[in-house]
Amino acid sequence: MKIFVFGAGGREHALCRKLKESNKKNIIYSYPSNGGIDCIKENIKFDSIDEALKFIIDNRIDLVVIGPEQYLVDGLVDILEENKIKVFGPKKKYTKLESSKNFAKEFMIKYNIPTSSYKVFFDENELKKNIDLPIVLKYDGLAAGKGVSVCFTEQEVENFCENVFRKKIFGENISVIAEKYLEGKELSVIIALNSKDYFIFPYSQDHKRAFDNNKGPNTGGMGAIASYDLINKNLEEEIKDKIIFRTLNGLISEGFNYIGFIFFGLMITKDGPFVLEYNVRMGDPETQSIMNLLEGDFAEFLLSLINGNLNEKSIRFQDLFAINVVAASKGYPDNYEKNKLIEGINDFGQNEELLSDGVFIYHAGTIKKDQKFYTNGGRVFSLCKNGEDIFQIRNDIYKSFNKVNFEGMFYRKDIGTYTDFNSF
Ligand code: GLY
Repeated sequence: MKIFVFGAGGREHALCRKLKESNKKNIIYSYPSNGGIDCIKENIKFDSIDEALKFIIDNRIDLVVIGPEQYLVDGLVDILEENKIKVFGPKKKYTKLESSKNFAKEFMIKYNIPTSSYKVFFDENELKKNIDLPIVLKYDGLAAGKGVSVCFTEQEVENFCENVFRKKIFGENISVIAEKYLEGKELSVIIALNSKDYFIFPYSQDHKRAFDNNKGPNTGGMGAIASYDLINKNLEEEIKDKIIFRTLNGLISEGFNYIGFIFFGLMITKDGPFVLEYNVRMGDPETQSIMNLLEGDFAEFLLSLINGNLNEKSIRFQDLFAINVVAASKGYPDNYEKNKLIEGINDFGQNEELLSDGVFIYHAGTIKKDQKFYTNGGRVFSLCKNGEDIFQIRNDIYKSFNKVNFEGMFYRKDIGTYTDFNSF
């Protein structure tokens, strides 16, 4: 099979790895790619999306998988489907579930899906007059994970307003959702679906703040734990009944013929689970941990959903926990330097000793030049391992950080310590 993966992060490295493992004969292509994906994919470089699309159509690629939301929002699925290419991802018109926070909120209210109360504002002064702290402010549009601010102080509201209303860093058309702050623990639930079947992946938990103890600025995610055993059966049933099934019913009622992933960003509170956001893609770094548990033929699984006949038996998940810990560049998520040599990895972007200890390196912001790897982003790579004991996995991963290194590397030391969903 010829498979094309769009994206350049750790999520896409994990997807490429599993799509290659589906069948060693599978040929992987990717754009824009990263150092780790370069070690899996064919050595063909594309300079633009248009060039990649032309290649896919001319070469009748068998399966296209799209990682980041922007390509979905830009309508890549629509273009590929018009050209009779099989692609796993939702059409542009369905991506408003993620790209419009207001649409998502109205959808949740309409279908009785638990979410916190909210107001919409188009004007800074109106917003400031009508909110009580703490409050969650969300720019209503795509903002590369940077459009949400949890504000405990007036200064934090001020900073958000300056960026969004005055500097207009996300664009000219400004609407802001002000949402009641919920106390609890975050949980990521990711499903794959078509208009009649769905499949729930192992539950996962991201760690969004840059530093230990959930301190510091929000990031794209500094590490994730995944397992079906992350939550107990009662919570699992509540999430299925109140959130997943109601969302699926809502999609059917709205006439959405949705094929792709849905990521439910949940807050588990003492009053049960609430939806913070929908995403129309998998999460990063959740995917790295989820994929690390996956066995079987992932390409066959995705194709079966596209073809309207889910083959649940094509994949299975190890009955273990997986943790991945992100190594980031000093200064991330703000300014950081690039082009630092990554020491301790071989020509294939891995470390032999770590591999034999069961630790896999998922590349994110890396670039391969002359058989060496250099940093090329804020989140550089993550170290990932599966096991029965969360404490042991974490220890093994932290020891592994002695073996791979780059100037300015930092990582959180508490990934996987917030897994008690009964205490708040
Ligand atoms: N890890 C959060 C996200 O992918 O949106």
